[in-house]
Amino acid sequence: MKTETTIQSLNAALSPARLARKTIGFVPTMGNLHQGHLNLVREAKKLCDVVVVSIFVNPIQFGPNEDFDNYPRTLEADSQLLAEVGCDVLFAPSVQQMYGDLPRRTAVVVGEITEVLCGRSRAGHFDGVATVVTKLFHIVQPDTAFFGQKDWQQLAVIRQMTRDLSFPIDIVGVPIARAEDGLALSSRNGYLTDLQRKVAPKIYQSLTDAEKALRKKTPLAEVLTSIEANLTKAGFEIDYVEALTPDLEAVNAFDQDIVLFVAAKLGNTRLIDNLVVKYS
Ligand code: PAF
Repeated sequence: MKTETTIQSLNAALSPARLARKTIGFVPTMGNLHQGHLNLVREAKKLCDVVVVSIFVNPIQFGPNEDFDNYPRTLEADSQLLAEVGCDVLFAPSVQQMYGDLPRRTAVVVGEITEVLCGRSRAGHFDGVATVVTKLFHIVQPDTAFFGQKDWQQLAVIRQMTRDLSFPIDIVGVPIARAEDGLALSSRNGYLTDLQRKVAPKIYQSLTDAEKALRKKTPLAEVLTSIEANLTKAGFEIDYVEALTPDLEAVNAFDQDIVLFVAAKLGNTRLIDNLVVKYS
């Protein structure tokens, strides 16, 4: 596996593949990789000739009181894992390489779907994501890019942006990787204390219970209230418990496919998860 830290050296590394018209698969990450990320790479390996993974902790998607400074940076361990799953090129630029010294005046703002769910408590977060992913798409020029369904809203924002800006890139959403007890894998799980780690799987349990209740025709509003009550009782501080369509529209038909979304804090650690309930 090659590791490149500048746009110029990445272009040099990808030039033979581009000339040979090989397909390039791209997995953007912020590092501290776990099986969820590695599944994205495995999926990319299946569909593309050459796989590029980026590791870049993007400062402009963190709010002033968020964990940018403390975000786990584990480049050496990440490189080893990526080599093991067959990543061809790791792109690990510095903040200077991505944003330079000059003021940044351009941002990619995707609109309404960035203002619901996580967008309500993380103002500007999705503008930061859309902007850095746009830059990375221009730098890597992939044919296909892979994102985890755990960040369902992020995936929806990237799909919308890719359509709106006519990027010639296929976006593939990869199912959530879970620990044996159901907890969705996330780099932020590492912040949990042992006790919190034991409580955290209750989010997934409450989502699967909710699906069962919905299938028994319990009204959606009642199901959402009960998720919130169960998680609050277990010690979570709820940010939101909501149901939207897969495209993040309001649910207005009884037998429509829906996604149940939860964001809740255990201590200082904010966890998100979702579950798709299909009726079709
Ligand atoms: O999901 C992430 O890790 C980040 O939001 C992404 C897509 C790499 C952009 O910084």
